[in-house]
Amino acid sequence: MSYNKFIMTMLEVKNLNIAFASDDEVLSVVKNVSFSLSKGKLLGIVGESGCGKSVTLMSVLRLLPKNALVNAEYINFNGQNLLNLTEENLQTVRGNKIALIPQDPLTSLNPLYTVGDQIMEVIMLHQKVDKKHARALAIEALRQVNIPEPDRRIDEYPHQFSGGMCQRVIIAMALSCHPDLIIADEPTTALDVTVQAQIMKLFKEIQQKMGTSIILVTHDLALISEVADEVIVMYSGEIAEQAPADVFFSNPKHPYSKGLLASLPKADEDRLCVIEGQPPSIRDRISGCKFHPRCPFAFDRCKAEAPVLEFSDGGHGVSCWLYVKR
Ligand SMILES: Nc1ncnc2c1ncn2[C@@H]1O[C@H](COP(=O)(O)OP(=O)(O)OP(=O)(O)O)[C@@H](O)[C@H]1O
Ligand SMILES: [Mg+2]
Repeated sequence: MSYNKFIMTMLEVKNLNIAFASDDEVLSVVKNVSFSLSKGKLLGIVGESGCGKSVTLMSVLRLLPKNALVNAEYINFNGQNLLNLTEENLQTVRGNKIALIPQDPLTSLNPLYTVGDQIMEVIMLHQKVDKKHARALAIEALRQVNIPEPDRRIDEYPHQFSGGMCQRVIIAMALSCHPDLIIADEPTTALDVTVQAQIMKLFKEIQQKMGTSIILVTHDLALISEVADEVIVMYSGEIAEQAPADVFFSNPKHPYSKGLLASLPKADEDRLCVIEGQPPSIRDRISGCKFHPRCPFAFDRCKAEAPVLEFSDGGHGVSCWLYVKR
């Protein structure tokens, strides 16, 4: 049983803490984050702006700037602790094994080169293939992301593609090296709502057809509700709730998650509920639970003591005093 768990777990992050140091202060931005992702699963990470989603992902690939202080028990990927790898070994993991689709990906295409040249460059950087072979692989990658007539469109420039199509090209680049894990940081923010949903469907298709594990980061719970197998809700640098997606969407527990879900537009209602107030800035020193100033259910203990993530049956974790019977 434990052996199975070992081979099935692709990524395991244990007690991750991140702070940024400047000349006169050290600000903590991520606290005690732990999660794991099984092979072939799709994890959605959700939370408001500034809650630490991007820095968490960047720390997995050790891509944070030098003033970042990263501390974790381990960040295991396929049984290897990424924290112990040399820069050279990390290079092989990045791109080859883990592909990152960064936030604001549309700026990562160069307008001066054809999409084919750009995908082929990535392929030739990571695989020992000649130009002809790389071109065939690039066409195949474009086909996998449902770009019609890939053998013709490969020679076009980014401006000849729509925003959604450019995003597909970027996903094709990520796929072209057959990574075990794709990390996509807000991959659809620049796109309109229908295209966002199509791109989400594409990620699901990739996961199902190729068995790729995927982490999708977004502000928008609705976007991942149809595709995620696991959900993590972050608030102010910490995990507020985490659960298998079916459990989470049928029985959200944390008042913040409930607020996020209530603020989603529903077909039969035109009034949107919003969570009152703003997420705290990293400089705000809030006692107890960081969410208590915005929480409609807060009581004395919430103001005094910080809750920790506690798990119940079925892997449903929630960090909230409402669920602690002590
Ligand atoms: N290089 C840096 N130096 C100092 N602080 C940083 C740095 N990068 C991020 N931060 C801070 O870390 C916190 C978390 O940032 P992060 O980018 O992870 O948020 P996010 O959840 O991805 O937000 P968004 O949804 O807006 O992308 C923020 O308060 C941010 O200002
Ligand atoms: Mg971000």
